[in-house]
Amino acid sequence: TDDELHARIRAAKDKLGSRLVILGHFYQRDEVIQYADFVGDSFQLANAALTKPDSDTIVFCGVHFMAETADILARPEQHVILPNLAAGCSMADMADEDSVEACWEDLMAVYGEEPDADGKQPVIPVTYMNSSAALKAFCGRHGGIVCTSSNAATVLEWAFERGQRVLFFPDQHLGRNTAKAMGIPLEQMPMWSPRKELGGNTVEELNDAKVILWHGFCSVHKRFSVAQIEKARAEFPGVKVIVHPESPMPVVDAADAAGSTDAIRKYVIASEPGDVIAIGTEVNMVNRLAAEFPDRTIFCLDPVVCPCSTMYRIHPGYLAWTLDGLVAGELRNEIVVPDDIATDAKVALERMLAALP
Ligand code: 13P
Ligand code: SF4
Repeated sequence: TDDELHARIRAAKDKLGSRLVILGHFYQRDEVIQYADFVGDSFQLANAALTKPDSDTIVFCGVHFMAETADILARPEQHVILPNLAAGCSMADMADEDSVEACWEDLMAVYGEEPDADGKQPVIPVTYMNSSAALKAFCGRHGGIVCTSSNAATVLEWAFERGQRVLFFPDQHLGRNTAKAMGIPLEQMPMWSPRKELGGNTVEELNDAKVILWHGFCSVHKRFSVAQIEKARAEFPGVKVIVHPESPMPVVDAADAAGSTDAIRKYVIASEPGDVIAIGTEVNMVNRLAAEFPDRTIFCLDPVVCPCSTMYRIHPGYLAWTLDGLVAGELRNEIVVPDDIATDAKVALERMLAALP
């Protein structure tokens, strides 16, 4: 039963004490979040992995790329566990190493590999945190960097100090929204793809590019629409609308604000009792905010429930099973990034950390 499951989790947590740290992303369901020692956005969770010195094991209640990042940043002897190995991210899966390598070759053929007179590289690769460790390693090897939704603009500025243009993957929307806010015209943000049907551009069309976008997207955030925002404004005059920057550009433009999951949370904290706030992000997080601030009206822009189906795969049953394993001295569902990949990926992650104010 559920009661037994929760009793097992509590008992294991008690037994393991400070040897265990549980990290939880904001999108996790409440039954899991209640056990997290630290809850945050993907950047804060990476930092938590980096700075938690005294545990042997990090159990990561989030998705695969987050657990990989934790493994890269944690101490070498620290283990990272993902309670359900099927908890991936469909956006991260939209960029695989072979396709990015092929794109890179095409870009090098167009722009050459030599820096210009100012020493700027032809292209700087920038990967969103929502990507495999192999792609972070690719960025590490090619003078590139990682960003999260909380620091994408700072990271793009870093890239433009070192390069003439940027290849941004996997999320076209975060790339487009961030570059647009920096004043880059849409004509200078072509989408790379050898396949026209994916919306790709020809090599000639890449010539004036400042930001070359990959075709990835988040299946949760692409559901948000301008019509939903208009409806919320009609129903609740004065409503404040905030969306995650993985939402399509017209949605971000129509909203009052856009930001990472932590920025959305801070926006709600800074609001006033009585405020009405419509949020464009994953529904578990929105419902938790609504419960936490009952004196405000807080709702998800999408009336059809939109959980992230892969985040949702971290069921308390898997958490209990992995914790039981730890108590028995067994590492279940450990995430281990091979050393050569981890070394290069760490370079790109450390560039991000160093670029931040
Ligand atoms: P945050 O970095 O804002 O937590 O976003 C991660 C994510 O997967 C959003 O869909
Ligand atoms: Fe990936 Fe979207 Fe889920 Fe975030 S919400 S983990 S980007 S599928």
